[in-house]
Amino acid sequence: MQIAILGTGNVGGTLGKRLAALGNTIHFGSRDPASAKAQAAAAEANGARVSTFSEAVADSDLVILAAPWTAACELAASLGDLRGQVLIDCTNPLNASFTGLDLGFDVSAAERIQAAAPTARVVKAFNTASAATMADPLYGGVPATMFYCGDDDEARREVGQLLQTLGFEAVDGGPLRNARYLEPMAMFYIHLAMNGWGGNCAFKMLRREKQ
Ligand SMILES: NC(=O)c1ccc[n+]([C@@H]2O[C@H](COP(=O)([O-])OP(=O)(O)OC[C@H]3O[C@@H](n4cnc5c(N)ncnc54)[C@H](OP(=O)(O)O)[C@@H]3O)[C@@H](O)[C@H]2O)c1
Repeated sequence: MQIAILGTGNVGGTLGKRLAALGNTIHFGSRDPASAKAQAAAAEANGARVSTFSEAVADSDLVILAAPWTAACELAASLGDLRGQVLIDCTNPLNASFTGLDLGFDVSAAERIQAAAPTARVVKAFNTASAATMADPLYGGVPATMFYCGDDDEARREVGQLLQTLGFEAVDGGPLRNARYLEPMAMFYIHLAMNGWGGNCAFKMLRREKQ
């Protein structure tokens, strides 16, 4: 697949490297494609291209939005017509001090991003795990769980497959409005990570047969 990754930070860089290693062609979008950071992310992703955000999405099969929440809606709106492309929203709507969320429960960042990019098929994913888990989802051989949600069934199926290819246990979380619960879950994860657990921990769903 030709994958546009918008943002060359922790999440964008990590996913770019992993998805390139799996045979995908990565095209990063960056505020400053010539920056040392953007160029380093590109080098780690099999010599990926780095361009402006709108150039990166122009030839992509899939878009991954890996920018801060504060920039996400404006960035999504600036992409123009995404013609039904799947857009994976990784963001968490963290407040300025990273101590809570800017919004929640009656709306989510994912729904705001969908409104900003109405022709995209937005799927929320990657927001409830750390970049360290994205780099390696296996914990003692057991795959970390990644929840995802979105309103388009086919888009959710595609993202579920991509997550499995990356090594996650992919759990379909239903419609995009369920991002209202995935985003607070990520905030709780951040609390744990910053209070002793660190980034090398992850959520796991367990299930047993009914007795
Ligand atoms: N870090 C994690 O473990 C983690 C886990 C799950 C979800 N998330 C979420 O994923 C998103 C990305 O997180 P991250 O840790 O990768 O962040 P980051 O390291 O700060 O990288 C974000 C990237 O977004 C791009 N960007 C575009 N507009 C920007 C702006 N106005 N200000 C700053 N950067 C801008 C930048 O790339 P260019 O400089 O190339 O433009 C920047 O490197 C966030 O919404 C975060 O909440 C993070």
